[in-house]
Amino acid sequence: MDSTLSLQPTIFIIFGGTGDLNSRKLAPALYNLYLDGFLPQQFTIIGTGRTKLTDEVFSEKLLEGINQFSRRGKADEAKWAEFSKHVAYQVSDINDFETYKEFGRRIDHYSKEWNAKPNVIYYLAVSPNFFPVIAENISKAKLGTDTERTRIVIEKPFGHDLESSKKLNALLGKIFDEKQIYRIDHYLGKETVQNIMAFRFANSILEPLWNRNYIQHVQISVTEQLGVGERGDYYDGAGALRDMIQNHLLQLLCLVAMESPVSFSADEVRNRKVDVLKAMRRFTPDDVRLSAVRGQYAKGWIEGKEVPGYREEGKVNPQSNTETFAAMKFFIDNWRWHGVPFYLRTGKRMHQSSSVIMIQFKDVPHYIFPTETAESWQQNRLIISIQPEMSIRLQVQAKRPGLNMVLNTVDMVFDYKGTYTNDAPEAYETLLLDTMLGDQTLFMRGDQVEAAWDLLMPVLNTWQSKTSLSFPNYSADSWGPEAAEALIARDGFHWFSLPLNGKK
Ligand code: BG6
Repeated sequence: MDSTLSLQPTIFIIFGGTGDLNSRKLAPALYNLYLDGFLPQQFTIIGTGRTKLTDEVFSEKLLEGINQFSRRGKADEAKWAEFSKHVAYQVSDINDFETYKEFGRRIDHYSKEWNAKPNVIYYLAVSPNFFPVIAENISKAKLGTDTERTRIVIEKPFGHDLESSKKLNALLGKIFDEKQIYRIDHYLGKETVQNIMAFRFANSILEPLWNRNYIQHVQISVTEQLGVGERGDYYDGAGALRDMIQNHLLQLLCLVAMESPVSFSADEVRNRKVDVLKAMRRFTPDDVRLSAVRGQYAKGWIEGKEVPGYREEGKVNPQSNTETFAAMKFFIDNWRWHGVPFYLRTGKRMHQSSSVIMIQFKDVPHYIFPTETAESWQQNRLIISIQPEMSIRLQVQAKRPGLNMVLNTVDMVFDYKGTYTNDAPEAYETLLLDTMLGDQTLFMRGDQVEAAWDLLMPVLNTWQSKTSLSFPNYSADSWGPEAAEALIARDGFHWFSLPLNGKK
């Protein structure tokens, strides 16, 4: 373990213990933290759910998840045997107060056994409908009163719109201190996303260029080949705007656009991000028409496999008006960014799965070379590739070796694979460790979530009130609807994508 970290005895209570998130993300993350020595000596993971299971069967389920989803692959038998001694299960009805009394008894039991007051982390990996009842019961059972030692982790979606997020914040605020509330946006835990701040604020060469004088426009694109899969019931009530833009993409935008915080403390960083959200230009109904595009995927073929259209997916309304693609143009009205468009796009069943930020600089003020020398002239670009490729590349013009003066675009690349030998930790490892350490830098503060909802409400309201007559309007394995191309082409640009494995 890193000797500078002081980890307290900890009890994790995972609501939704038998669910998908626990098996895909939380259990592998906790196990990897354990292998890397980032769990305290004394810890217990209590999964809880409605299904009746013994501790053994529950830990077998976690093992299956780990074997399938851990970045390290199959668990080592001996290590797993040690780890699984720390796993327990409590069958529960989360509406029933008895459940919480039982948690209380278990917490007392471990406090005595460890002869220490443990940190207790309540992880709500359940549908948002249950957030209020769990929080209220924790309060009634007086299980959240120790503001230093108890924490509650809330998965997204945090609210469904501005009003519901305010209501949820108000409810949580009555029970917990803000410093106890950990609102997850898992993008913030990704290595490449954390690196945006390091890259911007630990290097002096960028700052003079990082503004409207040198940057022409910014693109943030998070595309997925996957469809909605098994999550049709959740997704049909959400859509791309709520599912991705309100949280992940706007957080990426904040990291690109924020001013330098005075320190790396959680509140300083989050204050600067809120400043960005507050400076973003609000949409009028006309802006929604001109600056926001929605799409829904039709059936098609992805990598040789036929895939259903969105309206044919399980648990989706066959006449659904829900968008599976969204592209938007934003402006940030402050001194640094005035007039610089930020284009965001996200969608499911797209041609490529990749998350990329592209910052395009302005052109040189005057060309000194004859036009025929420029073979593939292009303005300078900084490309921050978040996944699957993990890299930062700066595209510059250079002379091609030879007797003629020929200019073309070359990349100066920082590639994680080539630079580091260690596997990067998964986002959930970072986020769970930060929760144990009480560091909220990578978590959403209440006002941040509300500011993001506030910005998007005009678009959400317009899209909800006006059914799209063109849905489905893009086929699987495409780059989304034509209107999204038009949105950016009107300004003289086109969407950027990073060729992956030869795939453009
Ligand atoms: C989740 C969304 O927050 O992020 C999913 O609910 C989406 O719809 C996922 O697929 C994407 O995350 P990642 O880490 O795979 O890019």
